Formats: sequence, structure tokens, C-alpha cells
Amino acid sequence: MKVGILTGGGDCPGLNAAIRAVVMRLLDYDHETVGISRGWLGLIEGLTEPLTLERVDEIISEGGTILGSSRTNPLKKDEELDKCLNNVKRLGLDAIVAMGGDDTLGVAVNLQKLGTKTVGIPKTMDNDLAETDYTFGFDTAVSVAVDAVDRLRDTARSHQRVMVLEVMGRHAGWVALYTAIAGGADWALIPEVTPDLDEMCNHLAKVRARGKPYSIAVASEGIDLPQADEEGISVDAFGHVILRERGVGDFLAKEIESRTGFETRSAVLGHIQRGGSPTVFDRVLATRLGLKAAEMVNAGEFGKMSAIQANQIVSVDMERAISELKTVPIELYEEAKLLFR
Ligand code: F6P
Repeated sequence: MKVGILTGGGDCPGLNAAIRAVVMRLLDYDHETVGISRGWLGLIEGLTEPLTLERVDEIISEGGTILGSSRTNPLKKDEELDKCLNNVKRLGLDAIVAMGGDDTLGVAVNLQKLGTKTVGIPKTMDNDLAETDYTFGFDTAVSVAVDAVDRLRDTARSHQRVMVLEVMGRHAGWVALYTAIAGGADWALIPEVTPDLDEMCNHLAKVRARGKPYSIAVASEGIDLPQADEEGISVDAFGHVILRERGVGDFLAKEIESRTGFETRSAVLGHIQRGGSPTVFDRVLATRLGLKAAEMVNAGEFGKMSAIQANQIVSVDMERAISELKTVPIELYEEAKLLFR
């Protein structure tokens, strides 16, 4: 078989480890591998690159994706979808392994229905794909964010300030909540829970009253901000609002300062979370998911996604995985709140 491999959507650490594992395992089965550059854009435009053992052997520690990525949605225009289907034929692709979150894998599900054989691999730093306990990229992103909290704590303590750290997370608060727990923060705001600014500010005042002269709040960029002016904010090819433009961290810092009188600053971690070398967890997870995906291709298990469930690598239905987001359960948020003193 000739198998195309692509990475779509927001990049994250671990993609190269997954590419490496897929290529190595497909070569074991004597299949040919070809890289499709820049996600679905590459399939529309027929952009490919060779993927050999030599190309992938040493990339496990590299962040980003050697194939490049894009947020191109070929389902938006009929002519782009036609180009994709024609290029699958022209390039002689027998199957495509797509690595991505719900948007990228949603395209894979549709192509599968149109006769192109696809297998998915779950990646997103947001960790919000269903049917898998974790997606790779998440652990590295949280590690970067926790390092930021540790640094913010130093400066917050020196100046007796409140520091707000805004982290990524479109619809799910996994990154914010894990960062708050692992960073020992004093408050967390996640998209799953409507923000109660009074509750947060009362709590921050309580922290001060018990003698701690500073505090740290971690907020997901995707939280509801009823008072904020969201007009004029851009959207991407999948119709998602560019969340960073909403200025969640800045908004919260101003609210906290005016409501409590505590000097407050905000920091936006942004794309720093998406770069750098993957953690051990992400390297191992990406490798295991990649090996499984290659085995699924070889076994003819198409329309499926490799996944991790209870530490076992399994094959799951890709359409089910994209049909609803895996959000933070309220019990986990409540558990984290036990530590906000
Ligand atoms: O890939 C997911 C994500 O990192 C979200 O958390 C974030 O909102 C978005 O991507 C940012 O996308 P872009 O890199 O296109 O600005």
C-alpha cells in the first residue's frame, strides 16, 4: 500500500514522534509512506514529501511537525474537496493517516465516507477529543504552563500582586485546570463553568486576609465573558473564534484590581505552550498511538482512530470520537477547588 501521512490543525509537541512511529511500523509491513505537507491544504494542492526511515529516525525530540500544518477545511468548497479526491487518485494513495483534533479528524471521517480510506491519530494540546483518555501535546503544554506559574509566583510574591495566567483551551479547561492543580494556583476559571467573578474576588481577598500577600489565578482563554465586547473578533476556516483576541487575561486582571483593590497583572502564554520538545509522556503516547495506527492500516481497520483507554492502546470509531467534545467533569473542578485556600 502507499500511505499518505498528514498533520492538521494547531501543531503540538509529539507530532514528530507519532510520524516516526507510523513510518517505522508501516515500513515493517513493506508499505510505502509519503508525507502530505501542511495538512489538508497539502492534499488540495498535491504537496507531498518523501518520508523515509532516515527522514524520521531522529525527530522524536523535535517539537512542531516536520510535515507542516494548516487549518484548511477542504469541505468548505466543493472544488477543494474534488481536488482532494483527485489527488488521492493521482498520487496513488491507498490510505491516509491523519493526525489532528476534531476538525482535522472530522475531514478524515467525511473522506472515509466518500471512499478514501483513513485512520486517525488523536492530537491536541486541548485534550478535548472523546474516546481517548489523553491526546498527545497536552502534557507538554501543561508542563510549560506550570513552569510559567512557578515563574509568576516569584514575581507575584515580590510585588504582592495577583497574577492572572491565560492559557489555551478552546472549549475545554483541561490545560487551565491541570495547570492550576500542578502549579498550586489559588483559583482556576474553565470554559465548562460560568465564571463567578464575585466568588473569585472574595476568595482572593480571603487568601490575602489569611496572610498570603499574593495570589495566582489561571484562566482558560475560552471562558464565557458576558461583559466583554466580542465584536470584530476573527474566525478561522472551521468557524472558530480566534480566542486570544478576546483578551481574557487582561479583562480578568482589570476586574480583579477594580473589585479587590489588589494590584493585578496578567500574562498570556499563547503559542509558547505549543512549542518545544515533547515530554516523556507525550513522546511515549504519540509513539504508541502511531504504532497502533500503522497496525490498523495494515489490518484494513479504516474509519477508526487509535486511542488510549485505561493505559491500553485501542482502536475506536473515529466518527464517535469527533461527535462530542471531552470536557472537564464538574467533579474534577470541585476537587481542584478543595485546594484553593
Ligand atoms: O490547537 C488548539 C489550540 O491550541 C487552541 O487551544 C487555541 O485556541 C487554538 O489552537 C489557537 O489556534 P491558532 O494557532 O490557529 O491561533
